[in-house]
Amino acid sequence: MDASTTLFVAVSAIIFLAVALKQLLSGLTLTPQLKNERAAARLPPGSTGLPLLGDMLRLISAYRLPNPDLFIHERIVARHGAMSTTHLLGERAVFSADPSFNRLVLSGDGRVVDTSYPSSVATLLGARSVLVTRGPAHKGLHALALARLGYPALPPLVARVDRLVLAAVAQWEPAGAAVRLVDEARKIAMSVNVHLLGIEPGPWSESLRREFNAISDGFVSLPFPLASLLPFTTYGKALKARKNVALALQEVVRKRMDEKAMDAGADGETAAGKKGKKDMVDLLLEADGGSFSMEQMVDFCVNLLAAGYDTTSLTMTLAVKFLTETPTALAQLREEHDSIRKGKGENQSLEWSDYQSMAFTQCVINETLRVGNIVNGVLRRANTDIHFKDYIIPKGYKIFASFGAVHLSSEHYENARTFHPWRWQSKNSKVQDVPASNLFTPFGGGPRQCPGNELARVVVSVFLHHLVTRFSWDEAEEDKVVFFPTTRTLKGYPINVRLRSGSIS
Ligand code: HEM
Repeated sequence: MDASTTLFVAVSAIIFLAVALKQLLSGLTLTPQLKNERAAARLPPGSTGLPLLGDMLRLISAYRLPNPDLFIHERIVARHGAMSTTHLLGERAVFSADPSFNRLVLSGDGRVVDTSYPSSVATLLGARSVLVTRGPAHKGLHALALARLGYPALPPLVARVDRLVLAAVAQWEPAGAAVRLVDEARKIAMSVNVHLLGIEPGPWSESLRREFNAISDGFVSLPFPLASLLPFTTYGKALKARKNVALALQEVVRKRMDEKAMDAGADGETAAGKKGKKDMVDLLLEADGGSFSMEQMVDFCVNLLAAGYDTTSLTMTLAVKFLTETPTALAQLREEHDSIRKGKGENQSLEWSDYQSMAFTQCVINETLRVGNIVNGVLRRANTDIHFKDYIIPKGYKIFASFGAVHLSSEHYENARTFHPWRWQSKNSKVQDVPASNLFTPFGGGPRQCPGNELARVVVSVFLHHLVTRFSWDEAEEDKVVFFPTTRTLKGYPINVRLRSGSIS
């Protein structure tokens, strides 16, 4: 352990113990309000007592296991049922593996519940980012994201993604290469994301990508008050990276403002008008009659770039890993894409109609999202007492709606831990009396449903198309999926890629 890590661990431990002690003392002295709260509430079973370290440590140790879902099912769900009371981040919380309750939480956002991510998320994404904004302001920001992301069928999106993916995989030709797949996937995800801002990927986006790697690490590190004074710690590095990203994005917005002013002066036609399609920066500059502050625009862009970065790239990486381990699925996928490629000219880009004909690919993506649980669940806070089944969850409680616990439950999916893309071919997987949409929520739902969900599917599909039609590969090293502090592969999935013999593209 190096000096900075030791210091970080020491500082973290002190803060952690201080928070735990404060919670312990507040738990020992039950205020009249808390006594009433407990009497009125009919909480799900579980730990309603003191918020001791045990809960947190149990959860952390569960996510360190190769199969945290197994632990969650055996130790939490089997013991307490689909809903249980616990403590999360030092607060009283309800953990839900109940698909109907999760739906209620997702659809009730802004009314019954509100988003409630740790303050470090707001610090790193920005206080005015979509994910942490609430109320009418959130509605406006979500609609703005959808204005750019919500029409993936409109040309030229699929063709553009095709071009960006091809540019990335062309680097592996002609001799083949040893690549760390997660890095390659991240390059692709970032190039698509900056494209949404009207920027061509290049050295600028690559340096931005490195800053986002630091920000991603920051999300899963322990934030502490003096982090900005300790720039060598993970969280301190993330804060610095956030600052650099903000400066770079401010520059982009300012440049665009100047261009707009010049264009309008010259011939009355805006740059966006000339391009024929507005990118995200154009939309931000026009939002609310042009009243957005620089901070609002930057926070929006940081959120957009961050939200589509690790998520999409990890989906690509896990899909390839799961396919490699399931050769029959890989063969069927290849057949689908070979047949699409045969129907097109050698260098002809994919279009929306090609994407729509990738039926088995969608099964592979669904199954990757179900087994991989890239976003394991969402955090909310009850705005009001919530009555659900026999329970009353008091106003103020934190709620973790776990998607992973539903996606990997054998109650809802046969052989739940097996990657089996064919299960998505028969529409009626095991649904019982729960609507199917409640059982599969990798992109959340309700007013906060991921606005980038279709774009993510397009990117992963196009990537798989070029991977399987052009290349074959094998694992360069054994790698495994880990779940702590977030889902990822331990080594970034190193593979040896070769041009496929008789490649048809
Ligand atoms: C496989 C890839 C992805 C997954 C699994 C994913 C998952 C999610 C989930 C679960 C949420 C809801 C969070 C909540 O309710 O608190 C969300 C929100 C969001 N996602 Fe995605 N996402 C993906 C890709 C993308 C992409 C490509 C973009 C854009 C480029 C994007 C932009 C956003 C934004 C802006 C939000 C905030 C929405 C709001 O709070 O209104 N996501 N995503």
